[in-house]
Amino acid sequence: MSTTHCALVTGATQGIGLAIATRLAEAGHDVVLHGIEPLSEGQAVAHALAQRTGQQTTYVPADLRDPQAASALWAQAAKALRTPDILVNNAGIQHTCPVQDFPTERWDAILAINLSAAFMTMRSAVPAMRAQGWGRIVNIASVHGLVASVNKTAYLAAKHGLVGLSKGVALETATDGITVNCICPGWTDTPIIAPQIEARAQALGGNRDAAIRDLLREKQPNQTLLPPGRIGDVAVFLCSDAAAGITGVSLPVDGGWTAQ
Ligand SMILES: NC(=O)c1ccc[n+]([C@@H]2O[C@H](COP(=O)([O-])OP(=O)(O)OC[C@H]3O[C@@H](n4cnc5c(N)ncnc54)[C@H](O)[C@@H]3O)[C@@H](O)[C@H]2O)c1
Repeated sequence: MSTTHCALVTGATQGIGLAIATRLAEAGHDVVLHGIEPLSEGQAVAHALAQRTGQQTTYVPADLRDPQAASALWAQAAKALRTPDILVNNAGIQHTCPVQDFPTERWDAILAINLSAAFMTMRSAVPAMRAQGWGRIVNIASVHGLVASVNKTAYLAAKHGLVGLSKGVALETATDGITVNCICPGWTDTPIIAPQIEARAQALGGNRDAAIRDLLREKQPNQTLLPPGRIGDVAVFLCSDAAAGITGVSLPVDGGWTAQ
């Protein structure tokens, strides 16, 4: 029988984060879901997952723009359920805009949530994982951690930064039974891409399906929006014993985007 671990998943009440939390619970792990919703809303999501899977779950809220909240999140999760030994840094935001018009406030928020918060949670997690001689860290980067697109400078800086940060932590923990890896998704069917679909739809006379086809044709050779569960499946694999020898890797799950 496989071991039950405890995972902290950031940004876990919707989208890719919820899919990862769901797959981890389905794989037999307990899960602390993090989000920005009020306690009662987040707990309802956690409770529904516990009902479906029989695993222990709970919810902790924190605005990861706040460095103190990000630094405290690991301890908050440990207090809410038990000390996690899996950390998934998934929370992230996007803002598209040409560099000369990019608002400083959006730059700061993207760097804080998509990059600095992952540094702070890993800084908290590593000593506990090291002490127990086992840990898994999965950071949700993006194809934009590997290649660029226009109008995404802050997101590119944060996701390229996350890829580098993860390699560094992977090397520092390589002899400790800890692995640190990134997943780099392409276009995935979640709320974060809605503004980009809407902008493309407007340019194409309001047709949403045509907008999605157009975005995919431009970048993603499999011509299909990824279901969030695909990312969840890969996260579960990276947390499994089968992946014990994989660390410091940034794995594209992108329908061929970065093969071009
Ligand atoms: N959907 C895609 O096409 C795609 C592609 C590549 C990478 N990603 C990455 O996947 C991750 C999850 O995104 P998603 O696609 O599920 O989008 P999403 O918008 O559904 O989820 C984003 C999550 O970030 C959390 N978040 C937002 N603001 C926050 C804040 N201030 N403090 C704490 N948490 C906050 C939200 O609670 C939410 O759960 C992100 O890191 C994103 O960059 C998504």
